[in-house]
Amino acid sequence: MGFKVDLLLIIKIGVSGLKLNYTKYKEIFEGKKLPLAFVDMELLDENIHQVLQRSKNIPIRIASKSVRCAYILDYIFKADNQFQGIMSFSGSEAVFLSQKGFDDILIAYPVTNAEVIEDICKEIKNGSYINLMTDKLDHVHLINEVGKKHKVKIPISVDIDMSVDFPGLHFGVWRSSIRKPNTLKSLLEEIKKMEFVSLDGVMGYEAQIAGVMDKVEGKWLMNNVIRSLKKFSINKIADKRKKAVDMIRAMGFDLKIVNGGGTGSLESTIKEDVITEVTVGSGFFNSHLFDNYRTFRHQPAAGFACAINRHPDKNIYTCSGGGYIASGSTEKLKAPLPFLPNGAKLIKNEGAGEVQTPIIYKGKETLKIGDPVFFRHSKAGELCERFNKLNLIRNNKIDKVVPTYRGEGMCFL
Ligand SMILES: Cc1ncc(COP(=O)(O)O)c(C=O)c1O
Repeated sequence: MGFKVDLLLIIKIGVSGLKLNYTKYKEIFEGKKLPLAFVDMELLDENIHQVLQRSKNIPIRIASKSVRCAYILDYIFKADNQFQGIMSFSGSEAVFLSQKGFDDILIAYPVTNAEVIEDICKEIKNGSYINLMTDKLDHVHLINEVGKKHKVKIPISVDIDMSVDFPGLHFGVWRSSIRKPNTLKSLLEEIKKMEFVSLDGVMGYEAQIAGVMDKVEGKWLMNNVIRSLKKFSINKIADKRKKAVDMIRAMGFDLKIVNGGGTGSLESTIKEDVITEVTVGSGFFNSHLFDNYRTFRHQPAAGFACAINRHPDKNIYTCSGGGYIASGSTEKLKAPLPFLPNGAKLIKNEGAGEVQTPIIYKGKETLKIGDPVFFRHSKAGELCERFNKLNLIRNNKIDKVVPTYRGEGMCFL
């Protein structure tokens, strides 16, 4: 079974490798001002297809943080009606999207500013469904107060911590304070008493499965340890989620949303019977962190091009810009990855620089001053925080140029 999957993977990567051609991309962007960001729409289509296949028939909520471009969000929704709803990363973003006509928005992180909740209230009054995440009584009190002021019942969800503790190891992330059944029970009892909130959803993000790579080059031992830890946690996660859902339902709440997972965990999350939807974001652009998972391989659909502005030595080319480092714990994988021309590499001592990025390239392409080098960002949505526009390419040409959130003057976090 494992062999069959790996063989299929090699064939797929081999095929896509042929499609990723330096000359093709170079010709498409000939004469354009660099740096620029782009999305290869044919590869995005392949990723959309693959996400649908991996999710089987479970509805998919799109994590907007990993897209950050309204046009692309809309494009994904139009591709298939299995895409239902947005997982938003901030209250102001939810308002922005609602005003653009997007509906069914679950804000996955608590909103703690009354003014923003008031803006959300106005959207709800105008007919949008926007659901706010909570894990503490303070969150719920604030939402209830604003709901009372505006005479609106505000949909909320509770966020259940999905980490698993091993002796000496906290396998997961520090987000929700709901780590034990009793904490959930006390919060639910308080929520029951509140008139202006309606508990519609429960979310549990198993970051240790979805966001932890288990096929990193040169890390054989670590990969195996992580795979074992993942295997061991999957049943515990399912059990924790089921118990939480059972408790919420038993206390009389009408749960509509049981959300879990992310790009990296679809295979295990969809196996849980209680799940009503999964979340996917990074799998669409497929930033390079997501090349390092054992169970799937998506296409490199988004990237950016920087111009070579110097040629200081035989195999060294220095590009203008490029230092777009990703968030999270600081490590080598958070740097952008030069991917075309094939074989281009960052220089260890300099990395991707503030205004200049030297690369080593010893391959067969002849590179000249002004030529592009193509990179992929480590994280999907963060690419759009660096560029105002995305150049959408299809049929070997720029088909459309669309604004990112940043290009619309929006910077939410
Ligand atoms: C709550 C939540 N759900 C799902 C995801 C998965 O998103 P992606 O598919 O972009 O990895 C994340 C990512 O951080 C998250 O915070």
